[in-house]
Amino acid sequence: MHWWRDAVFYEVYMPSFTDSDGDGVGDLHGVRSRLGYLELLGVDALWLSPIYPSPMVDHGYDVTDHRAVDPTWGDLDALEALVADAHAHGIRVTVDLVPNHTSDHHPWFRAALGSPPGSPERARYHFRPGRADGTRPPNDWLSVFGGPAWTREPPPTPCQGEANREGAERGSDEGRDQEWYLHLFSPAQPDLNWTNLEVWADLERTLRFWLDRGVDGFRIDAAHGMCKQLDSAGGSAYDDPRFDSDDVHDVHRMIRAALDHYPDRVAIGAVGVRTGTRFARYVRPDELHLAVDTRLSAVRFDADELRATIEDTLAAVDAVGAAATWALSDHDVTRPASRYGGGVTGLARARAMALVQLALPGAVYLYNGDELGLPDVELPDDARRDAVWKHAEHGRDGCRVPQPWETDLPAFGFTTGTPWLPVPDSYAALSAAAQLEDTGSTLSLYRRALELRRLHPGFTGSGLEWFGAPSGCLAFRRMGTTLVCALNTSTEPVPLPPGDPLLVSGPLDDGLLPPDTAVWLA
Ligand code: GLC
Repeated sequence: MHWWRDAVFYEVYMPSFTDSDGDGVGDLHGVRSRLGYLELLGVDALWLSPIYPSPMVDHGYDVTDHRAVDPTWGDLDALEALVADAHAHGIRVTVDLVPNHTSDHHPWFRAALGSPPGSPERARYHFRPGRADGTRPPNDWLSVFGGPAWTREPPPTPCQGEANREGAERGSDEGRDQEWYLHLFSPAQPDLNWTNLEVWADLERTLRFWLDRGVDGFRIDAAHGMCKQLDSAGGSAYDDPRFDSDDVHDVHRMIRAALDHYPDRVAIGAVGVRTGTRFARYVRPDELHLAVDTRLSAVRFDADELRATIEDTLAAVDAVGAAATWALSDHDVTRPASRYGGGVTGLARARAMALVQLALPGAVYLYNGDELGLPDVELPDDARRDAVWKHAEHGRDGCRVPQPWETDLPAFGFTTGTPWLPVPDSYAALSAAAQLEDTGSTLSLYRRALELRRLHPGFTGSGLEWFGAPSGCLAFRRMGTTLVCALNTSTEPVPLPPGDPLLVSGPLDDGLLPPDTAVWLA
């Protein structure tokens, strides 16, 4: 069996994990210094958020060079040292890949702005003339971050104007000088044009560049993006021409073919689509190895909704012979401890959901800090840094607050400098050091769960079988084994399914499974 089919991936959100040089932002040497912790935790592989040169408008998801390392994180040597050390600890390293867009500071985009409409430089992106004499965007598409998905390019500088005039003489229309460009995310992240073969060739080079440096694979950002049905009008909730176009699967076939030249590497898509069937198309045998199912992180703490989502995903991936990949969170969503209600209840539910996630067949993604049960942090407006998020309520900073390592050190051992987001005092008691010593801590629960997942024969069963369960509860068995997982989302304690408890997410109540609690039995 391939290592990745049931692997535990651990997301390292680079800015917030560990800072080794005192600038207040995490870095590669910082990650390297925590490999002992990660081995103790029991993860199989890391996913590093983007490490490439970037103006950091979106903390690295705005890339100016896909084949280099930003000095904020270190350099290529630091990456290679991390990979070598991680391998020595039995941990693989995957890196984030951002093929949907570049930074607006990328040399390609600078060249595009300096070139006339219709030029090959512009053809790497999506430039269009505006409607209504150029004053309105080419269509009504919205950006994922809020606001229009089109920005009008700045007026040409005098020397660019010259280039544009030359373009006009070559046949382009002078009235089109100030075109609009497409960005499904922020205006600082112009979308690449995936009908352009240069864009394909460049990604192939990027893949080989990192594979040759020993990385074990890629997490592919917005893997349902890239190809757009730009000429399609509007789009209903179930037919969004911005995403999940049939053509995108050819890109994934190219990625897979490139990886197949290297043994044991993995490509994992971050795929946000609405149905299991659409989702499973990304993990057909000649496409991505895995795709992260973020739908579980959008489901409420409700047994029926959870079961429906799990069943839908499993049926869809089974149909194409792929493994599922489960995630409860990442650096874009409210952390489980807050999302499930906050406080004591939220934490109890987050712990219970961890046992459900870790008992499901397939691979899993953990997000750094969830193993500590960290809640989101309410940050004052002047401390917020997620400038690209335009939706009303708040940005995504609350789940990105730096990881607390020690109880007594400034910034709880994350940095010797000033952390890029303030770490609240309440994080002291949740630090890794404090939790390592406490057998009842969330960290101890995760460590034990990952250990059982690795060693107990119950986790080898490939599918799952549902048990009848009291209302508000779910229970399943891993096929062909005696391992049972039960979860109580109701308000009353319920009897345990048969078997001896292996691990519980919280104390049992006189032999009963209390609300907000999950148990593994065998
Ligand atoms: C993905 C990333 C998110 C980023 C966006 C644009 O959704 O997870 O953090 O802002 O892509 O690259």
